[in-house]
Amino acid sequence: MKKIAMLGAGFIGRFYADALQGLRSRDKVVCIYARREESAKKFAADYNCEHWTTSMEEAVANPDVEVVCIALPNNLHEEAVMLCCKHKKAVITTKPLGRNAEEAKRMLLAVEEAGIFNGYLEDLVYTPKFIKAHESVKNGAVGRVLWAKSRETHPGPHSEWFWNIEQAGGGCILDLGCHCIEIGRSYIGKDIKPVEVMCWADTQVKPIDAEDHAIGLVKYENGAIGQFEVSWTFRGGMDLRDEVMGSEGTIWINSFLRTGFEMFTTGKGADYVAEKAESNTGWLFPVGDEVNELGYNHMFMDMFNSMEKGVDPRETFYDGYVVNAIIDAAYKSAKTKLWEPVKLDIWRGKEGLTKDSHLVEYDADNYLIKEEMTHYGAKKVIVKNKHTGKIEEKEVK
Ligand SMILES: NC(=O)c1ccc[n+]([C@@H]2O[C@H](COP(=O)([O-])OP(=O)(O)OC[C@H]3O[C@@H](n4cnc5c(N)ncnc54)[C@H](O)[C@@H]3O)[C@@H](O)[C@H]2O)c1
Repeated sequence: MKKIAMLGAGFIGRFYADALQGLRSRDKVVCIYARREESAKKFAADYNCEHWTTSMEEAVANPDVEVVCIALPNNLHEEAVMLCCKHKKAVITTKPLGRNAEEAKRMLLAVEEAGIFNGYLEDLVYTPKFIKAHESVKNGAVGRVLWAKSRETHPGPHSEWFWNIEQAGGGCILDLGCHCIEIGRSYIGKDIKPVEVMCWADTQVKPIDAEDHAIGLVKYENGAIGQFEVSWTFRGGMDLRDEVMGSEGTIWINSFLRTGFEMFTTGKGADYVAEKAESNTGWLFPVGDEVNELGYNHMFMDMFNSMEKGVDPRETFYDGYVVNAIIDAAYKSAKTKLWEPVKLDIWRGKEGLTKDSHLVEYDADNYLIKEEMTHYGAKKVIVKNKHTGKIEEKEVK
C-alpha cells in the first residue's frame, strides 16, 4: 500500500482520487492540500483522508506521505516538484509537465538529481483502447507507422486559471496537444526523434490571449508524421479520437463520444452524462466507466507497480519534457508560419535515423506498386522496373 498526498482538490484531483480509491485499491490518499480550507476539508471528508492542509509544503513533508500526486494548475507544478525533491518524496504529476520545455527540463533534472521516483500522468496513453491498439502496432499489425493522428476537442476547460495565459502557460495546444502529441509519439515510437513542427493556431471564438483552436504536424526522424487537432471551441462534448495509418493496416479509435453506448431521454431525471457533455436531453453518448475509459486506473497501476519494482513507469518526467519541447516548437511555428526545429537539449532515443526504405520487392527486376482483384475477376499487379523505371500493369493468373 502506498500513502499519497494529493496536491489540489479540484477536477483532476477528484478524478485521481476516484481512480485510486474507487475499486478496493490498496493505495490511499492520506493527505490533501488545497488552496482553500473548505475545499481541503470537503475533499478530506469525501475521500476519508486523515490530514488536510492549506500549506503545500506541510502536505509534502507529512511523515505519513510516501508519494506526492500533483493535481495543481500548471504554474504551480514546478514549485510542487521542487518540494518533493527537497523532502525526497516520490512524485507523480499531471499533464502538462511544465508550461514550457525550460520549466520541464528544470523539473526533470531536479528529480533525477534528487534520485526520487518520477511519473508523468499522461492518462490517454493508458486507455483500454489505446493499450490494445498500441500492442497491435508493436506486434506489426499495421506495418510501418506512416501517420498517427490524435484529436482532442471540447467546449473549453472548467476553471478560470486555464483561461489566464500566465497561469496556464498557453491555450489548447498546451492543454490538449500534450495528450495528442504523446499519443502520436507512442504509436510512432518514443525512441524516434521528433525533429520539426508545423502548426496553425488561432483564437477563433473566446475572448482570450491564448489560442482556442490549433492543428499541428510533427515530423519524426524516420519519416513518420504525427498530427494533432485541438480545440477549446468544439461544440458537442469531448471528442477524443486517434487514427493510425501504417504500411499494412489502419486503426481508428473513438474513446469518448461514440463508445457503443447511445441513449435517448426527454430530460426527465437526466443529470451528469459524461465529462464536458453539453446536453442531457435528446440522443446522448454516455461513457460507461469514465475513470477507466480515460485511462486513470491503468495509469496508476503502472505508476505504483513500477514504484514497487524500482523501475521507471511507462511515462516519466523525461516524456513530459519531450512533449513540452514539441509544444514549444508548435508555438514558434504558429508565429513564424514555418517548420520549426524541436529543440531537445536532452535526448535519450535513437540518433541519426534516415527515412525508412519504402520500396517493396515484387521480383528480382521489379518493385511492387499495387495488387488488386477487380470486379470482373482479374487479378492485376502494377510494378515498377528497378532498372528502367518503367511502370507496367500485368494480369496474374
Ligand atoms: N486528463 C488529465 O490528465 C487532466 C484533466 C484535467 C486537468 N488536468 C491537469 O490538472 C491540473 C489541475 O487542473 P484541474 O482541472 O484539476 O483544475 P481545478 O481548477 O479544477 O483544480 C485545481 C486545484 O488546485 C488547487 N490550487 C492551489 N492553488 C491554486 C491556485 N492558485 N489557483 C487555482 N487552484 C489552486 C485547488 O485545490 C484547486 O481545486 C492542471 O495541470 C491540468 O492541466 C489533467
